Amino acid sequence: MLSRSLSLFSYRLCHTSIRPIAIHTRKMSDLSIELTAPNGKTYSQPTGLFINNEWVASSKGNKITSISPTDESEIASVHAAEPEDVDKAVEAARAAFKGPWRDMSPTERGDLMFKLSQLVSDNAELLATIETWDNGKPYQVALNEDLAEVAGCLKYYAGYADKVHGQVIDTGAAKLAYTIREPVGVCGQIIPWNYPLGMAAWKLGPALACGNTIVLKAAEQTPLSILVFANLIKEAGFPPGVVNILNGQGRVAGAAIAQHLGIDKIAFTGSTATGKEIMKSAAINMKNITLETGGKSPLMVFDDADLDQAVKWSHIGIMSNMGQICTATSRILVQEGVYDKFVEAFKEHVGKTSKIGDPFSEETFQGPQVTKAQYDRVLSYIEAGKSEGATLAMGGEAYKNVGDGKGFFVSPTIFTHVKANMRVFREEVFGPFVVIVSFKDEEEALEKANDTTYGLGSAVFTKDVVKAHRIARKVEAGMVWINSSQDSDFRIPFGGVKQSGIGRELGEAGLEAYSNKKAVHVNLGTWL
Ligand code: NAI
Ligand code: MG
Repeated sequence: MLSRSLSLFSYRLCHTSIRPIAIHTRKMSDLSIELTAPNGKTYSQPTGLFINNEWVASSKGNKITSISPTDESEIASVHAAEPEDVDKAVEAARAAFKGPWRDMSPTERGDLMFKLSQLVSDNAELLATIETWDNGKPYQVALNEDLAEVAGCLKYYAGYADKVHGQVIDTGAAKLAYTIREPVGVCGQIIPWNYPLGMAAWKLGPALACGNTIVLKAAEQTPLSILVFANLIKEAGFPPGVVNILNGQGRVAGAAIAQHLGIDKIAFTGSTATGKEIMKSAAINMKNITLETGGKSPLMVFDDADLDQAVKWSHIGIMSNMGQICTATSRILVQEGVYDKFVEAFKEHVGKTSKIGDPFSEETFQGPQVTKAQYDRVLSYIEAGKSEGATLAMGGEAYKNVGDGKGFFVSPTIFTHVKANMRVFREEVFGPFVVIVSFKDEEEALEKANDTTYGLGSAVFTKDVVKAHRIARKVEAGMVWINSSQDSDFRIPFGGVKQSGIGRELGEAGLEAYSNKKAVHVNLGTWL
């Protein structure tokens, strides 16, 4: 997904100065542990499964160990759900759906969501601390972008809770016909690790506003913050079973959710390959599905663009969040007349701006990749770029100058003279890794932009408004940024075309996926 790029410029307000290393833990019980984060924040980290508003152990006792990508230290181990645990969560969600939640007035439902949004704001520093520790994203980004988005998204959908209306449709005097917007039922939600709480909020907001109940599985790479968030759900006063939160392996707990006969709808954000698996599994009971998957989004720079702005937005578009953004504009297409100038200015800007370091440090723009697997993946694409004959213009190596040399840091990497048949042009890398390609004219720009199996984001830089809007129509993507990149807003629909997904999240459109329209026909005069 995204980065709230605009606020990137306004976050340098408060900060905490940090010392990674020295992590003290004290065991409290099997289902909670006392932790001290690298920035000195001490808190109780739940470690169980959150089912029916209670903390429970996983049925087999299997655990997931969360690693800090900054120094590779172990943070904590949490319970990993088995299919039996998913069954229990689904049962709780079903009971809540048939019981107190269904009978609650929509306005009261909205009140609970407002309360949850407020609790997120009240606990934003703690939640941001955990995101940074577990995921590696810069603390100021976690706090001022991710957590602001979580609270904002929940608040936005809280306002919708009592505004999901049906319609009366006039078919003549002999009949009254109307629609009721009904919740879909028990929803499975599978979350990725790049925006752990943000992606949860995008899915919880519309699901709760429409009156559904939920079984949510967090990503195994970032299992911690969502468990602290779970406590806030209980504190806000949601009835037991409305939101159940599990950690677990994708192929175990995730697959159990996707295949579950007691789940009516599945929402997923993650890789295209896993999205396809989930589609297949969901066929078992014809679940309603929404998928938000991969991307290889183009950013086109025309000769007549404001080059300085194009350079700065191109940097945000691919280097934010360590490049781990599904909408990252990872293919920069530049018109021949300004290609060399753009490449030079872009390299200079990346060199100046992408400061790599401890994510708790205020100066850091780029923290580590989330896991060793993602780090290895980015490094392997660097090898692919080199062996395919692209020109390595910058970076192209692991970065070892943070702390004592541990951590999954990768230098921002730029390949030029890239051809459309190269893997680095076609495949999603999901790192601080960009390819820059030239084009002759508008036709070739669009041909290259659309030469992909994906269709998530897209960007165009030009001062010609007519051209900009013409391209906005022709580019195959769910979102277009004109003279910008990565704008994302909970009021605006978000999603992809082609193999970037199915359905839309956010905005009013986000409600569509979480409600069915029931048609009621009342006979007022067709007498037999
Ligand atoms: P993934 O798609 O396998 O994992 C995402 C979520 O799906 C996790 O919660 C995981 O536990 C779950 N999952 C995995 N296999 C499952 C299955 N068979 N059934 C149900 N749930 C399952 O992605 P992964 O392995 O973490 O990352 C690989 C690549 O995916 C990344 O390099 C990136 O290209 C892409 N990705 C895209 C994201 C996006 O925002 N669209 C987010 C994360 C990854
Ligand atoms: Mg981690």
